[in-house]
Amino acid sequence: MEWTGLNDLREAYLKFFESKGCLRHKSYPLVPQNDKSLLLIVAGMAPLKPYFTGQETPPRARMTTCQKCIRTGDIENVGKTARHGTYFEMLGNFSFGDYFKKEAIAWSWEFVTEVLKLPVDKLYVSVYEEDDEAEKIWHEDIGVPMDHIFRMGKEDNFWEAGTDGPCGPCSEIYFDRGEKYGCGKPGCTVGCDCDRYMEFWNLVFTQFERHEDGTYTPLAQKNIDTGMGLERLAALMQDVGSIFDVDTVKAIRDHVCEIAGCEYGAEYKKDVSIRVITDHIRAVTFLASDGVLPSNEGRGYVMRRLLRRAVRHGKLLGINGLFLKDLVKTVVDCNKCEYNELEEKYDYIVKVLTTEEQNFNSTIDRGMKILEEYIEKMQAEGKTVLDGESCFKLSDTYGFPIDLTREILEEKGMSCDEDGYAVCMEKQRETARTARGGSKYMGADETVFHKIDKDFSTEFTGYDRFEDEGTLSFLATDEELIENAGVDDVVYIVPDRTCFYAESGGQAGDTGMVETVTGKARVLDTQKAVAGKFALKAKVIEGALSAGQSAKFTVDRQNRLAIMRNHSCAHLLQSALREVLGEHVHQAGQLVDAERVRFDFSHFSALTAEELERVETRVNEYILDALDITMTEMPIAEAQKLGAMALFGEKYGEVVRVVKMGDGDETASIEFCGGTHLDNTSKIGLFKIVSENSVASGVRRIEGVTGTGVLRIFSEVNNRIKEAANVLKLNDPAQLADRIMSILEENKGLEKVSESLKRKIADSMFDEMIKRCREVNGVKVMANMMSNVGSDMYEKFADEVKNIDEPFILLMAGTADEKPKFLCVCSKAAVAKGAHAGKIVKEAAAITGGKGGGRPDMAMAGIGDKSKIDEAINAFDGILENFIK
Ligand code: ALA
Repeated sequence: MEWTGLNDLREAYLKFFESKGCLRHKSYPLVPQNDKSLLLIVAGMAPLKPYFTGQETPPRARMTTCQKCIRTGDIENVGKTARHGTYFEMLGNFSFGDYFKKEAIAWSWEFVTEVLKLPVDKLYVSVYEEDDEAEKIWHEDIGVPMDHIFRMGKEDNFWEAGTDGPCGPCSEIYFDRGEKYGCGKPGCTVGCDCDRYMEFWNLVFTQFERHEDGTYTPLAQKNIDTGMGLERLAALMQDVGSIFDVDTVKAIRDHVCEIAGCEYGAEYKKDVSIRVITDHIRAVTFLASDGVLPSNEGRGYVMRRLLRRAVRHGKLLGINGLFLKDLVKTVVDCNKCEYNELEEKYDYIVKVLTTEEQNFNSTIDRGMKILEEYIEKMQAEGKTVLDGESCFKLSDTYGFPIDLTREILEEKGMSCDEDGYAVCMEKQRETARTARGGSKYMGADETVFHKIDKDFSTEFTGYDRFEDEGTLSFLATDEELIENAGVDDVVYIVPDRTCFYAESGGQAGDTGMVETVTGKARVLDTQKAVAGKFALKAKVIEGALSAGQSAKFTVDRQNRLAIMRNHSCAHLLQSALREVLGEHVHQAGQLVDAERVRFDFSHFSALTAEELERVETRVNEYILDALDITMTEMPIAEAQKLGAMALFGEKYGEVVRVVKMGDGDETASIEFCGGTHLDNTSKIGLFKIVSENSVASGVRRIEGVTGTGVLRIFSEVNNRIKEAANVLKLNDPAQLADRIMSILEENKGLEKVSESLKRKIADSMFDEMIKRCREVNGVKVMANMMSNVGSDMYEKFADEVKNIDEPFILLMAGTADEKPKFLCVCSKAAVAKGAHAGKIVKEAAAITGGKGGGRPDMAMAGIGDKSKIDEAINAFDGILENFIK
C-alpha cells in the first residue's frame, strides 16, 4: 500500500462518497445542537440522529462527513498506551432510508481495494452472528473467501450507544498488518487483542431503535451509519505503530519533544507525558475553536480537565513557563486545510488556552503551599502517610492533581493513603451519579411538537412586515395536540406561516395578537419548536380558536422595533469592540429584547473607562452615519468570502442570511444573522452603555440601551438633577456644581469652628473634673459618666491628661453616642506607677458586658448594658488597687 498523508486520506474518502451521490457536509461542531443527552459529539452519526429516527428530514438521503469527535471514556489510559486518544476524526457515509447493506458493503470494498489499494489477501471481515444476509453479500457478491469472514456476537458486532436510540448489527473490516505487529501467540487471528489484525471500518446497519426498557423495535426506514477513524486509517496506510506516529499527529508530538528537550521512545514515563500532551492539545484547540470555554461543569469541565492534564504532564517533562500557545500553532498548521476556522480564530484560541494555563499554574502554586504545610506537620508528628481525606481535599477542593501529590510525597520518602483516597473518590462519584440521573445517551428531547408531521414547517414572513395572514395549523398544550381553545386558555399555536419572530440567536420572540373569525388571543412569546416549526404561546382573550382556522397575525410593532434597534446595535457594538480592543473579540452570547442589548464577548480584562467611552462613541458614530442595512441570503461559501463574522460552534445551513451595515469603505459590519433588523443604522437613535462586567473567565458582558431606552435614562438623570437643584433652591441646575462647592467650603469652615468649640468645652469640663478628683494610693483619679460627651471629644480629654505631670488616671463613660464607649487615659507618671489603661478599661467594660482594651496610656472599650455604667464606675477604685500598690 502507498504511504498517504492524513489530510489526503480525508479528501480521498469524501470525494469517493461524493461520487456515490452523497452530500458532503463539513464537520459539525463538537458541541451537540438541540441534544441535551450528549456533552460532546462522539461519532459521525451523533449530529445526524434526528435523520435516522425520521424526526427530521435530511438535506439529502445520503451524506458523507469527516466529523470531529471527542471520547473521554478512556481518558485515564490516554498516554499510558499508544492506542488511546480522546480527539479523533471519523470518516462516515450515511444513508437515511436510502441505500442499504448491499451498496454500503460494495462501496467500502471498492474504496479499500481500489482507492487505498490494500492487498485483498490481507483483508478480513466480520459480521453479526445472525446476519446471514451480510455474510452472503461479502462472500457471493464481493468474493471474500469464507476463511476471511468471521461471525461474531453482540458484544463485537452490534452497534448501539447508551440506553436508547438508533442501532443495529454491524460488519467490520480488518487488515492484517503482519507479524511485526502481532503477539505471536498460537491462534492469533481476527479478534485478538494485539495490533496485528486491525479493525478499521465499522458498517452499521441501523435498522432498530433501542428503548430504555431494553426492547428493540424496527425503524420505519433502514439506514446506514459507518465509521472509520481517520488517524487509525492513516496509521495503517503509513505503516506506523500508532496514531501518534501519523504525519499530522507526529508533527505535534515532535514539537512537544522539542519544547521539552527530550526524545520520543527513549523512556516510557516521558512517552506517556508526550502522548498525553499531543492528544490533549488537539482536543482543547478544537474545543476552543467551537466556542467551549474551560469551566467547572459539563463540556467546559471536560475541556478544563484535558487542558490541565496537558499542563501537568508538561511539568512532569520539566517544561517551565507557558507552552500551550506554541503547540496550538502546530495543531492549526496541520489541520487548517480542512478546518479554516482554526486559522481565523487563532489569536482567540491562544488567549483562551493561555488564560486557563495561567490559572492552573496559580492553582499548582497554591496547592504546593498547602501540601508543604501537610508535609511539615507530618514530619513533626513522625508520620509518613498522608491521610486520604487530605489527598482528596487537595485534588477536589484545590484542583491540585493527585499524581503530583503522590510524586512529591514520594520524593520525601512519604506516600498517600490510597485506600482512604479511593473511599473519598467513590463517595463523590456516588453523589455525582445520583445528581446526574440515568443517561439518555441517544435520545433527543421529545416534546408535544414531535407529534406533528416532521416535514411540516412554519414559513417566517416577518423580516419586513408586522402583519400577515396564515393558518392556525395546530393547537397544543404542553402534553397534547388539541382542536379548540376557549377564553383564558393558554395554548401553543403552530401556524403554517407567520410574521412572528421565534426566539433565536439571542433575539427575543415576538408578542402581539392573533385573530380569527371566532376569537382573539394575545401572543405572550414565540419560540422555535422542533424542525422548523414555530410555537406561539398565546392566551385566548375573546371567543375561541380552532385548529385549522385562518388567522390574522399582528406583531406588537413598538415592541419589535425596540428589539430591532437593540439587535442592529449589537452588530455595531461587536465591530466597535473589535476596533477598540482587537480582533480577538468574538460574540460569546447575546440577548436582545425590547429593553436592552446584552452582549457577551471574549476579552480578558475589564474595560477601562476610556475604552468604554471609545466603544460607545464609535457605535454612535456608526448610528449618526446613517448606514444602510441590507439582509441577503447567499450560499455559505460566498458569505465566508465576504468575511462575514460567524458564531463559534454554530451549525449553519448551506444558505445563510448575511446582515451588512454600510457599504464599501464605510462598511461597519458584516455578520451571519437570522434575526430581524432596521433598514438604516440611524433608526437606532442613540446608544448608551449602562454596565460592563465579567460573566466567566475570558468573557465580558456589556449592557446598553438604544432609542427610547436612552431617552428613559436621560430623563431619569435629568429628574435626579432637578430634584437636587430643588433641594438647594436653585432655579438653574447649571449652578449645581458651584453651589455644592461653596457648601463644601462652608462646611470646612464650620467643621473648624466646631472643632475649636469642642476643645473649649472639653477644656472647661476637664477643669471642672480636676477640681473634683480623688486620690487612690497616691494617684489622682477621676471616674465619671457624662451624658453630653461623645467619643469624638475623647481625644481632647486624652491630650489634657497626657499634659499632666503627676500620676493621674481618667475613666470616662461619655454616653452621647448611640454606641457609647469607655475611655481610660493614664498620665506618664501613672503608667510608671503600674497603671495600664488597656487593662483597666477592659475590666470596667466587662462589668457592662462590653469588650475592648489597648495601650497602657490610652484605651477604649465598648459599653454593653448602659444601666450597668454606674456599677462599673463604682468598681473603679477596686480595679485600680490591683495595679497601683
Ligand atoms: N457509529 C459507528 C461507530 O461509531 C459507526 O463506530
